[in-house]
Amino acid sequence: MSTPEFDFVTPIERRGTASLKWQRYEEQDILPMWVADMDFAAPPAVQKALRQAVERGVFGYGEIPSGLIDTFVAWCAEQYHWAIEAEWLVWLPGVVPGLHLAIEAELAPEAGLAVPQPVYPPIRQLGRLRARPLVSVPSEATDWTPYLTDATQALVLCHPHNPSGQVATRADLEQLAQLALERDLLVISDEIWADLLLDPQQRHLPFAALNPDAAARSITLMAPSKTFNIAGLSCAVAIIPDPERRVRFRRQMRGMMPDMNYLGLLAAQAAWQEGAAWLAALKQQLNANLDQLEHWLQDYPEIGFTRPQATFVAWLDLRQLGLNEQDFLEGGVALSLGEAFGTDGYLRLNFGCPSAQLDAALQRMARVIQTRRGR
Ligand SMILES: Cc1ncc(COP(=O)(O)O)c(C=O)c1O
Repeated sequence: MSTPEFDFVTPIERRGTASLKWQRYEEQDILPMWVADMDFAAPPAVQKALRQAVERGVFGYGEIPSGLIDTFVAWCAEQYHWAIEAEWLVWLPGVVPGLHLAIEAELAPEAGLAVPQPVYPPIRQLGRLRARPLVSVPSEATDWTPYLTDATQALVLCHPHNPSGQVATRADLEQLAQLALERDLLVISDEIWADLLLDPQQRHLPFAALNPDAAARSITLMAPSKTFNIAGLSCAVAIIPDPERRVRFRRQMRGMMPDMNYLGLLAAQAAWQEGAAWLAALKQQLNANLDQLEHWLQDYPEIGFTRPQATFVAWLDLRQLGLNEQDFLEGGVALSLGEAFGTDGYLRLNFGCPSAQLDAALQRMARVIQTRRGR
């Protein structure tokens, strides 16, 4: 699907371009459908801002321009109906460092975390890497209470949820907010996928937008990276309404965080300022790709699947087929391993690519499945 303005069809050669997704299997005939970036060019406005910067040719230290702050504040108002203050923002080179900083800034050494399972691997790894007790909560659970221990002092949300692509409802979030209030918990909400709710009528509801208490106990992490396919430009933002938490967070950053990537700042501003029409067109393409995937899945009822409400990843339950990552790699498709997300027997398929590439990957996967069935 393409519009005169935006091209989501023409393949872009990414081999030999220092791409994490493509370099790993560059020498082999393997389609990379794993790590979560898309094989689409960034919005034209982003490309233009970057082209102008490259033509100037000066890449000195960057500073947050007021235009970037204004444009993000406006984005939150327009996209999520969330009124935020400019001073709540702390800019970061990535969401993952923000998760670690939030924990170190706010939690005592023995304080524990609760995280959903399955979940994006760096969230699962927070317990081990920050040397803190971690409890896992089944990602479909709406009441986290039975899973918490006396040590639990923070909830880490992945909202919308990667890898399932499911979106917590207002009622789910309110239940979590009530629990956080009763137990005085910090809520670290990773909302990197906020803009990729696939129903164009559905609006993301930030946890912190629920009520003033939720805001005060929250650290929300967002970024333009998934939305506009600019993950390589290292730009993210923490939204910390409580001034004391903000001071502790900034203190934690001292000497530990690199300066913001200059090109990332320019790209983020252009994306939030001028990227809304591109994003709407992207969602159409992602929905078409999901339709294509669902159509393909009709031939494979053994594969468990719930259509994601958000993201560009599909979480496939392959336990009944007994096929694993290696089987599909040998068949020429690289998928993300379910185990890394905390659940064996699943694989995650990234469908953020031109539909011809998705089709090629699905054909290869079909051959792997048919070979297994024929045995
Ligand atoms: C839930 C979630 N958080 C964070 C990230 C990555 O964030 P960053 O690259 O900004 O560190 C991803 C990437 O897939 C993700 O899915």
